[in-house]
Parts: sequence; C-alpha cells; structure tokens
Amino acid sequence: MKNLVSKEELLDKYNIPVPRYTSYPPANHFTEEVNNSTYLEVIKASNHESPRDLSFYIHIPFCKHLCFYCGCNSFPMCNPARIADYIAAVKKEIETVTEHLDKDRKIAQIHYGGGSPTAIPVHYLRELNELLLSKFETIESPEIAVECHPGYLDASYWESLTEAGFNRISIGVQDFNTAVLKGVNRRPSLLPMEQIFKHLRQAGVRINLDFIYGLPLQTVESFQETIQQAIALNPDRIVTFSYAHVPWVNKLQLKLEEVGLPTDAVKNQIQQTIHQQLLDAGYEAIGMDHFVRKEDPLYKALSNQTLHRNFQGYCTRETTGQVYAFGVTAISQLTAAYTQNVKDIPSYIEQINKEGLATTKGYVLNKEEQITREVITSLMCNCSLNWNSLSEHLKLSVAEIKQATAYNEATLQSFAADGLIEWDEQQIIIKADALHWVRNVAASLDKLMLNNSKSYSKPI
Ligand SMILES: C[S@@+](CC[C@H](N)C(=O)[O-])C[C@H]1O[C@@H](n2cnc3c(N)ncnc32)[C@H](O)[C@@H]1O
Ligand code: SF4
Repeated sequence: MKNLVSKEELLDKYNIPVPRYTSYPPANHFTEEVNNSTYLEVIKASNHESPRDLSFYIHIPFCKHLCFYCGCNSFPMCNPARIADYIAAVKKEIETVTEHLDKDRKIAQIHYGGGSPTAIPVHYLRELNELLLSKFETIESPEIAVECHPGYLDASYWESLTEAGFNRISIGVQDFNTAVLKGVNRRPSLLPMEQIFKHLRQAGVRINLDFIYGLPLQTVESFQETIQQAIALNPDRIVTFSYAHVPWVNKLQLKLEEVGLPTDAVKNQIQQTIHQQLLDAGYEAIGMDHFVRKEDPLYKALSNQTLHRNFQGYCTRETTGQVYAFGVTAISQLTAAYTQNVKDIPSYIEQINKEGLATTKGYVLNKEEQITREVITSLMCNCSLNWNSLSEHLKLSVAEIKQATAYNEATLQSFAADGLIEWDEQQIIIKADALHWVRNVAASLDKLMLNNSKSYSKPI
C-alpha cells in the first residue's frame, strides 16, 4: 500500500522521545533496591542460565578532553596515582566476581569502553586482558575489543595495543571535517588514518569506524564527504550514531545549542543519504546505525535472525554471553537482572576496597519482562519479529508472548497506515524506508511505556 502520509507529518508524529532500547528495560528504570547482595545472588544464578558464555565489559572512564556532545560516562583525566588505584580496584572487582563463576564457562567477548580506554597507559589494558584470560578458556574466536580516541595515539601506542591481544578496534572518528570537530571540542586523529589502518591490518585486527551525525556545522554534503573518506579506507564496520541530545545527562551539550544543531529534517536527510551511500558502496545495514560487509558474521546473523545486542553493540549467537561489567558506572547484563556500579571514581575505589563490589542500582526482571526483552531485542536487531520463531525459541505459546507485551492490533494498524510496518498475525516487519522508527514500534510493545513520564532522546 502506498504511504499517504507526508515526511513532515511522520516527523511530527513519530520524532518524539522514545527509549533507545540498548537494554530492556532501559537504564532509567533501574532502582536502588538492587545492591551488592542482589548482584552476588544473580551472579551465582547466572551459572545455570543461558547464554552460558561469558562476556566481560571494562569501563575506563578517563578522557584527555571532554567532547561537548558526549553522552557516555566520561570524566576528565586523573593523576597517574589515581589511575593506578582505579585499575587496582577493577582487578579486585574482577577477582570478586570471577570467584563465583563456573570455571568451565568460556569467554566469548571482552570489551573496553569509556570514556577513553586508550587515555591510560596501555600496559594496564594488557594486564587486565591477561587477568581475565588466565581464569577461563575462550570460545574459538573470542572478540577482544577496545574503543579508541585516535586524537592522542602515536605509532607506539597502536603497536602496543595490538600486542596486548585486541582483535577488534573501534576508532572514534565522529567526523573527518576539522571545523565540525573543533566545534565540539575534539581533536582529529594524530596519525593519518591510512597509517593506522596499515598497522592494524598487518596485525590482523578488524576495524570499526564510529561517526556521529546531527552535530553543529554538519550538512548533508559535508557528512557525505566524511562517509566517502570512510568508505575509501574500507573498514570492516562503519557505525553512524544519531547524535543523542540529552543535556539533562550532560550539561556540556548545551554548548552545542549555542552553535546551533541541525534541524530534525536535515538530520533525517543526512541519515537517509548516508544510508544509501553505504549500501551503494557494498555495505549491508545492521539495525539502524551499523554497516558491515556481506562476509561479516553480523550480516550472517541478521540473515538467519540470530542477531543479538548488548550495551556494547551487536553480537552474533557465538559472541553473545551474559555480560559481567567492571568499573565505575559499568552495567552488568545477566539473564535475570541488570546491575550498575556507582557513578563517581572515589566512591567506586572505596567501595571495591571495602566490599569487592560497588553496585548502586539495577533492575530484576520478572518473567513477563524477560519475554518482552526477547521481543524488543528481536525487533531492534532484526527489524522484524516472527511470533512463531520466538515461540519456538522461548518454548511459550504465541498468545503467552503477546500477552506479556503491550501488543495492540489497533496501534499496529495505525503504524501500517503510516507506512512504517507490514504486519499480520505471524509477524511484524519494519519497512526498509522506515527503519529509523523501529524504536517507536518497539515502544508500542512495551508495557513499561504505558503511563510512563521518563525522559528519552528522539529517534532522529
Ligand atoms: C565511549 S565513546 C568512544 C571512545 C572514545 N572515547 C572516543 O571518543 O572515540 C563511544 C561512542 O559513542 C558515541 N557517542 C558519544 N556520545 C554520543 C551522543 N551524544 N550521541 C550519539 N553517539 C554518541 C561516539 O560515536 C563514540 O565513538
Ligand atoms: S566522545 Fe569519547 S573522548 Fe569524547 S568525551 Fe566522550 S568518551 Fe571522552
């Protein structure tokens, strides 16, 4: 059926605050009822739950300078002694948690995020990798990944990084346009990208490039130029994040309002243009913002509907584990619960030194919410939802699954009339030109969104 609603009407109707669903429930539903003893209980229980493999996340919060747009948990650089104390605390937290994990479980993924993991001396990253890898076997090809800000890294740092065992490196470019970077208080790469790529390729490392659209001074043409430069480098994955404007989380973002953010319509146009540009260059879209080569395991997972997602990004069935997270603000994602560590560095170090754990809040999912999480993950990852496949996977009837969600046929009918989805009793499919509204469709299945007044960013 032809879509009878104009683009402007769609923007007015659907570009409203909705969760990003990097987790279900979203992190702003976490409560302080969850503490260290809850975390210990769920860690022990997690040995008997699926997925069985282990995924470790380590949060390194420090940054040399803070970018105005940043929505991550980042802190200005501390002195070397404080960094040493922080890493000692992370090691202690690893000891506490791993003591309760079955030793026959295998590591599928280790991921360092931040902040800027590469803002600290690289030997710390190597030591943390060695510590984790000394405790468990790994699956055949575990992913050992780190997020890097290239603005401060010289050749010797890149070399030490590959020697430390990383096999996937995400380079935060954000934009190749230096005026855009200057406007957001960010340095461009210290070394030419070609030199970095040459070294990483020789070391057999897979490369992701991260970008953000929706920043001040960006235009459709300027960002197209940036993406063209990215394509010329031929990275394994290109990630184009939509800028999330959440000044209530990070006040620095207000500085971007002073310079002037692109309108929703321009941002939408940038998204559509680069989407097509990347498809034309031979990349395949994974969800809203990831683009990969056809031979990438994520594309294979998408093709057979086994794509998963955690706070660290997309993963395949092989690399999906329950996530045990270490460090300040780090969020563990276990089958039965999410738990999050304290937010400030001194409290984290103090609590770890006292108790070995530093949980401040979290969320214990009831059975209904665990079902909804599967539904929303499937929709967010695969941009489609097949009730029968989910029924087989969860060993529940389709009626039971629908009952757990806020499934409403009238709402689906209205999405279909606006050209967002195709649906019938068996499935929901997000239409190719409406992928950016997947969050809205997911939110319509979420019972927690009924009578909810929490703050979220907008899809575009
Ligand atoms: C922890 S940061 C990356 C590591 C490193 N600190 C850097 O800046 O390159 C992870 C990614 O989140 C994205 N990001 C940060 N703030 C964002 C925001 N407000 N909206 C959308 N994406 C954002 C950026 O693309 C960034 O590369
Ligand atoms: S984008 Fe990266 S470098 Fe910039 S403040 Fe955020 S975490 Fe730090």
